[in-house]
Formats: sequence, structure tokens, C-alpha cells
Amino acid sequence: MLIKIKNCRDVLSSEITPESVYRSRRSFLQGTGVLASGGLTTTSLISASFLTGTSISAQKVNAQSAAQGDALIARAPQDLNLAAKPAFLVEKVALRRPVPDSGPFTTTESLTPFSDVTSYNNFYEFGMDKSDPSTRARDFKVDPWMVKVSGETNKPGDYALEDLLAPVDLEERIYRHRCVEAWSMVIPWIGVSLGEVLKRLEPTGDARYVEFLTLEAPDIMPGQRSRFSTIDWPYREGLRMDEAMHPLAMLAVGLYDDVLPAQNGAPLRLVVPWKYGFKGIKSIVSIRFTKSMPNNTWRDLQPSEYGFYANVNPTVSHPRWSQARERRLPSPLFAARTIPTLPFNGYADEVDGLYAGMDLRKNY
Ligand code: MTE
Repeated sequence: MLIKIKNCRDVLSSEITPESVYRSRRSFLQGTGVLASGGLTTTSLISASFLTGTSISAQKVNAQSAAQGDALIARAPQDLNLAAKPAFLVEKVALRRPVPDSGPFTTTESLTPFSDVTSYNNFYEFGMDKSDPSTRARDFKVDPWMVKVSGETNKPGDYALEDLLAPVDLEERIYRHRCVEAWSMVIPWIGVSLGEVLKRLEPTGDARYVEFLTLEAPDIMPGQRSRFSTIDWPYREGLRMDEAMHPLAMLAVGLYDDVLPAQNGAPLRLVVPWKYGFKGIKSIVSIRFTKSMPNNTWRDLQPSEYGFYANVNPTVSHPRWSQARERRLPSPLFAARTIPTLPFNGYADEVDGLYAGMDLRKNY
């Protein structure tokens, strides 16, 4: 199957974050005002958090934005593009553990503004353009949300998301997010170590990999019913079990101070910060433990360009462009902010042991 996959040199001017967006300077207080008024009607927990000013990412954004002269752009509740926020998630998100001061679960790099994180998206179920997911995922329904657990596990079944997450506490982590298209962001996620959830599902000794599937719903996902689509839906991804159990691998249910917007993969998505962003499958409805390596969408589409491992590697170019540098968003059209890409996206100290003895050129 041959498809034309856009590379960084093909980036359309319309895809570059418009200057007006990132230069818009509404005050941070205005932003929290919008949030607080929405939150007050939702739950007292949220209001307590905002009223006492304990929102850690809000504080970070405030400090970092002030430092870089970029104010966080106020956001309206509809930016989440959700028909309704699941009440249990709203509460869990409000009770999350704060981001640690140091270590691999955080970074001192400037956060990418909320407006960029939620308007420059890859979610092909909603279209091919970066703005399609935020404009076309209106009223995405995530409540109730079921996740099927199957394969090599002692606990197969259909789990309500609420039950799947009930025993775990959420935490906030700030990760670099590097797309294979050579752009990157820094995002404050809210979620849990993937391994913590998988352990409770009791994978058997035969489980060597774990496969994830995205919701398949062509009636509400225009990309899935498009006759131009070459993707064999549903979108799928996989990890080796030791990768999945690594503490950095995360199941995210929120970003910034709220539940995940539809365009970012509500209500449940994978975040594997040392890998290219396409491993971060969105809107997960199936977790299957397998003996053999599962397929993954981009490898299925173009195996010479995309592999199973997809570890960020500046020394292995994509066949059509270099991976040595990345465009850190927001990045003005005529003054692109590019920075060197780091091995394993800067997480080499934590994860290179997972690949000891492997030829990372062959296993791209
Ligand atoms: N998951 C699904 N279901 N569908 C997709 O098209 N795109 C992937 C990944 N997860 C994708 C997906 C790609 S290519 C990237 S770079 C990230 O999602 C983008 O995540 P973001 O939009 O939150 O930045």
C-alpha cells in the first residue's frame, strides 16, 4: 500500500502555527477565570483546586509563560470537544499527584501552549490536516467508555474505564513529545504508569507484547469513512512487554489541568515519550496481550519508513528527511525554532537498557 506521507519539508504554510495564535496575549488570569467558572459547576474538588491556586501545571505555565514572555491563551470549555466530561475523571484529575520537581517525569523546558497542543494534531480518524481533529471532533462522546481486555491475561473482560482506573492514582508528568514528522512539543500530561494498569490485568507468562486499538466508529469519525483513506482501521499500536512496563510509559487521561480533549485522544491514550508520537495511540478501546509482535498502523502502511520500535533516533534518518533536528512548537513560519533531537528523545539514561545488544538501525 503506497501513500503519500507528508514530511517536514512538505509542511504547508497553513499547518504552521499562525503567529496570531501564539502571540495572542490574553492574561493568564483570564484563562484560569474561564476554567474556574466551568469547574465550579462541575465539582467542588475542581473549584477547591482553582480557588486555592494549587494547580501545579497552571503555576508552571504562569511562571514559564512569564519567563518567556508568552501568556497562556485563554481557553473555552468547548476546546475539549467533548459532549460531556466523565465526572469520575474530572474528580480523579483534580486529585492528581503534582509533577515532581526533578527527574525524568518533568523538564525545565517551556511548555507548549494549550492552544497549540490542542489545535495542531494528528488524529487521522478526523482528517489529514492538523486542524481537522480540533474542528471535526465536536461533541465526541466518551462517557460511558469501555475497554476490552483480552489475550494472554488472567483477567479478560470488558471494563468500564471507571473500573479500569478506579484503583490507581493519577499523576502529572511533563514530557517531550516528538513526532516522526520532525516537530515537537512539551506537554503536561495527567495519567498513570501504563505498567500499573497492566499489572492489575495479570498478563500470563506467555504475554510478550501488548496491542492497543482505537475506537472504530465511521459514523462519527469522518477519516474512517473517507474513500481516500488507505489506513486499515482501527488504528493499532503495540509495545514489547518490558517497554510497556517501563515507568515512563503512560496512559494519559488529561493534559494541562483538565481531562483530555477529543483531539488529543480522549478519554484514554498512550504516551511513550522516548518513541515517535505515532506510538501514542488515541481513544483506546482494546488492550490485548499477545505472544507475538502485533501489527502497528504506520508500519503496515509503509514498512520501509516506519517500524515497530520507533524509538526517537537522530542518527537514523527517515528515508525522506533527517531526524537530526526538530521544530519545537510554537514555531513562527519565518523563524522556525529548531533544536537538535536527542537519542530516545532525551530519555536515553532511563530506557537504553531496554535495547541492549539490538541493532537500532535495523530495528527502527
Ligand atoms: N492515534 C490514532 N488513533 N490516530 C492517529 O492518527 N496519530 C499519531 C498518534 N496517535 C494518531 C494516533 C501520531 S502520528 C501522532 S504524532 C500523535 O498521535 C499526535 O498526538 P497529538 O495530536 O496529541 O499531538
